[in-house]
Amino acid sequence: MNVLVVGGGGREHALAWKLAASPRVETVFVAPGNAGTAQEPGVVNIDIGINEIDQLVAFAKDNTVAFTVIGPEAPLVNGVVDAFDEVGLRCLGPNRGAAQLEGSKAFTKSFLKRHRIPTAAYSVFDDADEAIAWVKQHPGPCVIKADGLAAGKGVTVATTEQVAINAIHQCLRERAFGNAGDRIVIEEYLVGEEASFICLVDGEFALPLATSQDHKARDEKDQGPNTGGMGAYSPAPVITQQLHQRIMREIVRPTIEGLAQDGHIYTGFLYTGLMIGHDKVPRVLEYNCRFGDPETQPILMRLKSDLADLCEAALTRRLEHCPVEWDERAALGVVMACGGYPGEYQTGNVINGLDDCPEKNVKIFHAGTNERDGRLYTAGGRVLCVTALGASIESAQNQAYSSARKIHWTDAYYRNDIGYRALKN
Ligand code: AMP
Ligand code: GLY
Repeated sequence: MNVLVVGGGGREHALAWKLAASPRVETVFVAPGNAGTAQEPGVVNIDIGINEIDQLVAFAKDNTVAFTVIGPEAPLVNGVVDAFDEVGLRCLGPNRGAAQLEGSKAFTKSFLKRHRIPTAAYSVFDDADEAIAWVKQHPGPCVIKADGLAAGKGVTVATTEQVAINAIHQCLRERAFGNAGDRIVIEEYLVGEEASFICLVDGEFALPLATSQDHKARDEKDQGPNTGGMGAYSPAPVITQQLHQRIMREIVRPTIEGLAQDGHIYTGFLYTGLMIGHDKVPRVLEYNCRFGDPETQPILMRLKSDLADLCEAALTRRLEHCPVEWDERAALGVVMACGGYPGEYQTGNVINGLDDCPEKNVKIFHAGTNERDGRLYTAGGRVLCVTALGASIESAQNQAYSSARKIHWTDAYYRNDIGYRALKN
């Protein structure tokens, strides 16, 4: 059968690579893909953008695509799954209604409160004066969030009143995030340890994937600006067995059931961002309605089962009875980015050294890359995710860094400490 993956980042390269490994899959189409997916055996890039929903549907129809997997959140929030549904085509991801979990923070907070799922206390504002008055009445740190999708930039952790007021101005008056900032959520500041938890959901049953942890900050020791993620590893020691059970019982299952009660059947990957308090209570910081990037890369390196089988089981409500097997080894991925990311950066630099990385147990997933005349060039902020398997996190880390150090371009940047929290544990 043929399948279609929508997206062009490292997550989609990993999804396409793993789907192509299925003996039942003939061709994996990727829209639009990148230079890495173009080189992958059994994978073909097609020139359709992630939000060109009508064209994606037409392509799937014309090319007998058995099912489509959506990588990024924007097309999900824009209703890509609903559009496939309308013509009777299978598409893995939540529909527009369920994708509001990521598309609107105000929706999510009221959902969490209504279903008594632990989260930070909050208020919603569309008026700057009222928001500022609230901040003045509530001394101490708070978190200001743009309601809609703001490309990961809509959240300000405000440690002082002035920072909070500036964030309110930026969102509601200067409209820095456009319509996504028409409303804001102001949240209680939570302390503890952050963790993420990713499941595959078939509308009813949630299958927890191998645990993983990413590093969101750009610089070492988790300093500097927030990014999409500078590296990730699996398993994540922070998720103990006890915590795992608690997250399934107190967060994941109530989320799927609560959505169903509200008329939204959730299908697809569900990524829950959590703060584990000193009281050990896991509280929801956010939901993403998709797989994580770069968490997907180490998680899929460890998946021994057929990903196409899992996707089909999720699309036909058979996940509960679908066996899943993980490699006992650890996997760790180091993101190589362009200097300056997540701010301004240069693209179009030649990437050298990729041919020097033939190691078994290492896979280089591409994100922002393109190919011209047989050479590879940088084409985005995050460029590669060098991912390795090892007997332990430490050995996966050594292997990933020894490969990353062979790859060069002008302005290449990566953190040298991906996985340090796991090693401390
Ligand atoms: P979000 O996109 O909502 O996950 O927020 C991005 C980041 O902001 C999170 O990964 C946390 O580091 C931080 N954050 C968000 N909400 C809170 C909160 N209520 N308390 C403390 N930190 C938070
Ligand atoms: N790595 C975090 C995310 O995918 O949102």
